[in-house]
Parts: sequence; structure tokens; C-alpha cells
Amino acid sequence: MNVLKFLDQKITAALVAAGAPEGSQAMMRQSARAQFGDYQSNGVMPVAKKLGMNPRELAQKVIDNLDLGDASEKVEIAGPGFINIFLKPEWMAEKLAATMSDDRAGVEKAEKPQTIVVDLSAPNVAKEMHVAHLRSTVIGDAVAKTLEFQGHKVVRANHIGDWGTQFGMLIAHLEDLQATNPDVMNSELGDLEEFYRQSKKHYDEDPAFAERARNYVVKLQGGDEWCLEQWRKLVDVTMEQNLHTYGRLNCNITAQDTMGESMYNDMLPGIVADLKEKGLAVEDQGAMVVYLDEYKNKDGDPMGVIIQKRDGGFLYTTTDIACAKYRYETLGADRVLYYIDARQAQHLQMAWTIVRKAGYVPESVPLEHHAFGMMLGKDNKPFKTRAGGVVKLATLLDEATARATSLIEEKSGDLPADVKAQVINAVAMGSVKYSDLSKNRTSDYVFEWDNMLSFEGNTAPYMMYAYTRVQSIFRKAGVDAASLTGPIAITEEAERELAMKLMQFSEAVESVAREGMLHILCAYLYDLAGSFMKFYEFCPINKDDVPADVKNSRLQLAALTARTLKLGLGCLGIDTVEQM
Ligand code: ARG
Repeated sequence: MNVLKFLDQKITAALVAAGAPEGSQAMMRQSARAQFGDYQSNGVMPVAKKLGMNPRELAQKVIDNLDLGDASEKVEIAGPGFINIFLKPEWMAEKLAATMSDDRAGVEKAEKPQTIVVDLSAPNVAKEMHVAHLRSTVIGDAVAKTLEFQGHKVVRANHIGDWGTQFGMLIAHLEDLQATNPDVMNSELGDLEEFYRQSKKHYDEDPAFAERARNYVVKLQGGDEWCLEQWRKLVDVTMEQNLHTYGRLNCNITAQDTMGESMYNDMLPGIVADLKEKGLAVEDQGAMVVYLDEYKNKDGDPMGVIIQKRDGGFLYTTTDIACAKYRYETLGADRVLYYIDARQAQHLQMAWTIVRKAGYVPESVPLEHHAFGMMLGKDNKPFKTRAGGVVKLATLLDEATARATSLIEEKSGDLPADVKAQVINAVAMGSVKYSDLSKNRTSDYVFEWDNMLSFEGNTAPYMMYAYTRVQSIFRKAGVDAASLTGPIAITEEAERELAMKLMQFSEAVESVAREGMLHILCAYLYDLAGSFMKFYEFCPINKDDVPADVKNSRLQLAALTARTLKLGLGCLGIDTVEQM
């Protein structure tokens, strides 16, 4: 169950019964310190101010009208009018015992499942994925997994950069290579970064080549068969490599999810004509421009967004306008989340301002930019190779595998070979992902191998190890966790702390779904693992003098911990292993 939601409804009702205007909010929070109870309501003060009442008096009235049944042990007024709620251990025990038969560990399915489009990954064709794409891939996929766990229908939209004038030079270069090497697709295109660099170099240095390239751009846009065929080869070879990377990362992004810029190409002339007809776009020196009062340029005049260039070409923004429209109209989105680098914030806001003005997507369908910061090197500068180049994602994952191999060889070298291989892979990919997901996505973060592969702290190896520790308790007890039933008793402080954490899983899931903030789920799981370790230290399970009913109760708390860790890590896209 979602305790926060339950208390929020109860206190909100009591607030209204105490005279607060309809729509007043309880503002429930988990309490930061045990002395303030388990939850606290901060909603009384603003309402009291509105009503001109003494907040502590209003708080008392709220409590007089509050009916929490047998859920609470104590309800207290604190400070200027906070209401602190202390839950009753018997009530918690009863709820947790009921959760034992729930393979979702108490996370309810969404009442109204939505269709949610998640814009994620979005690498560019004829380029390698680099570290910024790592962020949009793993963050986007983890949010998608969490939303799916809640029962929403998620469309992963991989908005790849597969259109634009650069394809002229890429096609011309591919043509040249094919003339001498029939196997070019397998050989030279193995290194896309190099292929791109060579075409660019050729384009800059050879006017005849540049002329041919420009000609191919025109032909490609005109739908020329041969040009399209070459273009398709470039897209395919790039996406084949990227799909392989998604697989390694345990990200569920498939070929069907590819919805690149080219897909919207046919919509663009219609969009420009429509914006013109609606009086939003005007011609300016041959280009089509939308002036937005909401944004001012340096002279204080409305900022212009070019949606069609003088030569007839369309822009990245035009495509994002069409794409938002498509996601609403064709995909039936109730909500659209964009996992894109923070530097594209203004681009998106301007595109969406136009989308709203044109009425392409109603205000009731949120378009949310879930921005993320940069990945930095130890020197606090953008993460680069030693030579100053971009770090390829594939290289990074290879290094993670190498490092995880030595780590696991050292720690658990005697595992059977197949188990060991599985553990190494889970640790390698898990570490890279978890180190990213556990940071507040809006800030830049420093990528550090040593920290992420440590068995201490808020890391993937620690979390995975904690899970195996719980599993080993069942092996030792010779009990199948799934078969446990019977009452749970919460008597010790460590049991209470663990029980409270277990009951808060659905709140952590909810905050991921609401704001795409995965570090909250990571922090929750880390705290849960910590509470479990403490519990296990103070509350023995497999000792001879532990009475059978106590043992059975504690085993159930352990079983719920394992289930919650597995499900939670699953939402993050991190594999668990049974032993390591
Ligand atoms: N391909 C772009 C890049 O690598 C990201 C695209 C993001 N999605 C979007 N709808 N604009 O920067």
C-alpha cells in the first residue's frame, strides 16, 4: 500500500472537516527524524493563515476530526502547527503480512493506466554512441521500466538523428569506399566515428566531392531511390551496433522503437503551411519564422524561431514540433517525457510553445523535459579520452567488464565458471548504470571507476551483495521464501525500522513515475539494505535459541526485503544474482 497517500487522504479530509476550504492540501511527508514520527503533515500552517486562525488550534481541530482507525499509535502537534504521526507496529505488521502474498511487494497498479511516450537514447546515425547517450539511454529506460511496473503503457521513442544535410557527404564517401571495397559495410563502418571524420575531411578539402555531396542532399530529399538505399545502409549499420549496446546494458530498446527524425519529414511542409495559415509563422527574408513574445532576444524583441530556411530546408525544431504532434495524435500519448541533455532545454521549450499555440497538443497532455547534466572526468571537465576525444560507449562498457572481472576474480574467484560470468556481467553493467542513476540527474557528475565498483557505499556491487546476503539466509535456514506465511511481529527497534522502509517502496516508485528522479529510488533501496543489515545484526534468525514464531516472522521480513530489492533494482534495470 502507499502509506503516504493513505495518510494524505485522511488528513486532507480532516482538514476540510475542520473548516479548511475545499482543495486544501495535507502536504504529507515522510518524517526526517524519528522524534517527528513516521510521517508529518505540513498543510495546517498555510490554511490557518488563509483563515486567519491560530495554526496550533487548527491543528487540534484537524486531529479531532481525524480517523486513522488502528493505523496510528500517537498523533502529535509540533512546533508552529505540524502534525506528526506515529504508526502502530501491529498495524504495520498486519499490512506487511498481507504483502507476503503480493509479488509486487505492495506497489499497486496505476488506477488509470496511461499511454506514456518516453523519448530516450536518441543517438546520431554514422556516429558512435557516446557518454551523453549513455545517460539518456539508461535514465530513460529505467523510468520506462518503472512506469511499466506501475501498469502504464510505455512507448520508447528512440528519436535518432537520421536526417539532415550531413547525409550528402556520408553518401558520397560511402560511394567512394564501396567502389574499392565491396565489404565496406562490415569493415570500415565498424568504426563509425572514423567514417564520419573521413567524410567530413574529404568534404572540407575537395570541392568536387563537396559538390557531389550537396547534390546528394537534394536527391535524397527528393526521394531518389539510390540515395535512399545508401542512407538506409548507414542507418542500419549504426542501429545494429546501438541495438547490441542496448542489449549489453539490459535496456529494453528494440528496432521497433526507432522513430528518428526522418520519420517526420513528410509532415514538415504541412506544419509550416498550417503555422502560416494560423498566423503564427511569417516570412522573413525568404525564411519562415515564428516570433515568440515569451522569449526576448538581446534587444528585448520577441525571439524568432526559424522553422524553414531560405533554401527550403527544415530544422531540428520543426521536426520536434511535428514529433510532439505525432506522439499525441498518432501514438495517443497522455504524457510525453523527454530524456535529453539540459543544454537543449530552450530548444524544447520553444518548440513546445509553438506546439501549444498551434493547438497540436492540448494542455492536458504534459510535455516534460527531464533534463540531465553532463558526465565529467576526474578533472571536473567533460568526460574525454586521454587524447581529448569523445569516449565511445562501447569502449566504456568493455572497460567496465574488464574491471568487474578482476574485482569478482578477487572476491569470488571460486564460483562456477558460468555463474561467475553472469556475476561479472551484472556487476559491470550494473555499476556503470547505477553510478549514473544514483546521482540527481539534473546535476553534472564525475565518472569514477573506483567508486562505482566498490562494495561499500551506495553502489551496484553493494546493492547486489546485500541481495545475496538475504538469499543466503534462506539457504542456511533451508526455507523457501515463497512458502512463508503466518503472523509478523514487530517488537525490536530494528524490526520497526526495517518494516517502515519496506512499507515505503511504493512511495519511492511513485516519485520516479512522477518526476523521473531515479536517485530517490536508489537512495531508498540503499537505506532499505542498510536497515536490513542492522536488523540482521540485532535480530538473529538462524540461531538455535530463536523461538519458531519469531524466526518465522523475521524470515518474512527478510523475504520482503529480498523481493523489494529485486523489484526495485529491476525498475532500475540492474540484474540481481543469487550469490557472489
Ligand atoms: N539526437 C539528438 C542528440 O544526440 C538528441 C535528440 C533528442 N530528442 C528529441 N526529440 N529532440 O543530441
